Amino acid sequence: MKLLPFNDYDFKTPRILETLNEASRSLAELKGFANSIPNQHILINAITINEAKDSSAIENFVTTHDSIYKVLTESGFKDEAAKEVADYRSAIWHGYEIIKEKGFISTNVLVELQGMIEHKKAGIRKSPGTKLVNSKTKEVIYTPPQDEKEIRDLLKNLENYMNENDDEIDPLIKMALIHYQFESIHPFYDGNGRTGRILNVLYLVLNNLLDSPILYLSNYINKNKGQYYQLFTEFRENNNYEEWIIYILKGINETSKKTIELIKQIQNEMESYKKEFMTKLPKIYSDELLDALFFEVYTRINYIENKCDVTRQTATTYLNSLVNAGLLEFEKIGRESIYKNTRLTDLLSKF
Ligand SMILES: Nc1ncnc2c1ncn2[C@@H]1O[C@H](COP(=O)(O)OP(=O)(O)O)[C@@H](O)[C@H]1O
Ligand SMILES: [Mg+2]
Repeated sequence: MKLLPFNDYDFKTPRILETLNEASRSLAELKGFANSIPNQHILINAITINEAKDSSAIENFVTTHDSIYKVLTESGFKDEAAKEVADYRSAIWHGYEIIKEKGFISTNVLVELQGMIEHKKAGIRKSPGTKLVNSKTKEVIYTPPQDEKEIRDLLKNLENYMNENDDEIDPLIKMALIHYQFESIHPFYDGNGRTGRILNVLYLVLNNLLDSPILYLSNYINKNKGQYYQLFTEFRENNNYEEWIIYILKGINETSKKTIELIKQIQNEMESYKKEFMTKLPKIYSDELLDALFFEVYTRINYIENKCDVTRQTATTYLNSLVNAGLLEFEKIGRESIYKNTRLTDLLSKF
């Protein structure tokens, strides 16, 4: 396998530069816009749920928002795919915290994140046999390196490339190359796709192109999945790095714009929700309570007790009043009482 940096490629072709320009502009706009908003955690929580769902769907773990929320409430509700999604979101958060703290993306972090998604804790591949096959025809599309030493050396090369900034290559182009290289190394028995897509957003944060993990390509990839798979091969077999880079840059551009739209919609929803809440239940309303209802897409009595510093009885009264006013929906899962913010979930499902 070829080592990074791919110095023999020209990354300054007119098509790359033009697409790069648009992608950079949209991403900068998203960064600025997201930073101007209070309640960052609400945005990040909501957006990462969607990413976790979409990224898992690329790997055929298909589930519904409703199941994901039920799994997130840790009420004992069982749905394998939804569990995978919830784990994926935890891995994003964990990776984000590490990158913020260390300012470095190590191979070990990637192993750790993969372990959070996959649980088997198998780590980097040790035995041969891993191949990428076409799910329909069963034909082998690509055989990644099989030897453990070779895999580790390639990862070391990737790690250096990710953390060095003394080259002249734009970080967005580097992100595209890193994704290609990581997937080509395919260091794990499973979970490579999802770990690689988490790596993308962490790399943007590492390079200060985003302050929080809010740009994800999985929605875009899902819609252009054939191309995603095809372009790996195009790059590898025909040296067509340009199409690959352009595909990723277009994804960044489109998704940045779409994410700005989604953030605006969440803001609008919170505004109108707030008005309705204040009008219908003026005695109960507080900013903390409103925040708590949007913090996750569901809430529970004990969350409200803690967040609003009230007794269990008061928290229960609040939530039941909100249900009666049509601002929340109640659901019993096992012994657990869950209060769902379906206005927020409806919005996220449409994204
Ligand atoms: N031809 C290819 N070359 C390299 N990587 C590929 C190719 N085709 C697909 N991939 C990557 O492999 C991923 C699937 O690998 P896998 O380990 O099963 O990940 P996951 O368990 O997250 O699905 C895809 O999402 C994609 O990122
Ligand atoms: Mg898989």
